[in-house]
Amino acid sequence: MINVIGLGPGNTDYITRLGEKLIKNSDVVIGGRRNLESIKDFEGEKIELASNLKEIVDYINNNKDKQISVIASGDPLMYGIGRYLSKNIDTNKLNIVSGISSLQYIFSKIYVDMNDLYITSSHGKVPDFDYVLSHKKVCMVTDKIIGPKEICKEIIKRNLDKTVVVGENLSYENERITIGKPEEILKVENFDMCVVVILEGGDCI
Ligand SMILES: C[S@@+](CC[C@H](N)C(=O)[O-])C[C@H]1O[C@@H](n2cnc3c(N)ncnc32)[C@H](O)[C@@H]1O
Repeated sequence: MINVIGLGPGNTDYITRLGEKLIKNSDVVIGGRRNLESIKDFEGEKIELASNLKEIVDYINNNKDKQISVIASGDPLMYGIGRYLSKNIDTNKLNIVSGISSLQYIFSKIYVDMNDLYITSSHGKVPDFDYVLSHKKVCMVTDKIIGPKEICKEIIKRNLDKTVVVGENLSYENERITIGKPEEILKVENFDMCVVVILEGGDCI
């Protein structure tokens, strides 16, 4: 069985007990650098996952005798490796263990429910902002090219009344949550790894 385990937003306190147990019992753990760094106590083989997805699938298919776990940040099926693996590995042999997504985590911090939430990403693409901003409640995982400031500029361009929440380094010691109107967010010098929540109106938090 191949496990695909969501580690939660980053701080190891958010890993599920099942995920922890499966990792401990693995021969091999495959994951991105940040994720491998968070399983310091694991003594088996570690393989770094970067843009080598095809090689990783070949490795998994050629090592069926090994207990292999692929670890992913947040939830593997929320803009993570879960989709690719479930399309490229026999699902009878795949055990996906959900984790707490960075998207879920930010909502717990701002006391806003996730009902009717539109979830999207700016990773490697230019989002259709007319469509994205037509929703009353949006959460977006971002990359270095389209982040909080670019999103705020799109809101201002359309003269929309929105409140923006930027959750950086969530669950880590340097976590920072910034809430403001787009004009205020634009004044912040720099944002680190973050998710962005866009809410309708002014006093919505
Ligand atoms: C490839 S996506 C993976 C999302 C992940 N599967 C999840 O459920 O959180 C990576 C993006 O998720 C967001 N992200 C993941 N962990 C984060 C954290 N601890 N703090 C802020 N944003 C985070 C950032 O937007 C980052 O660029």
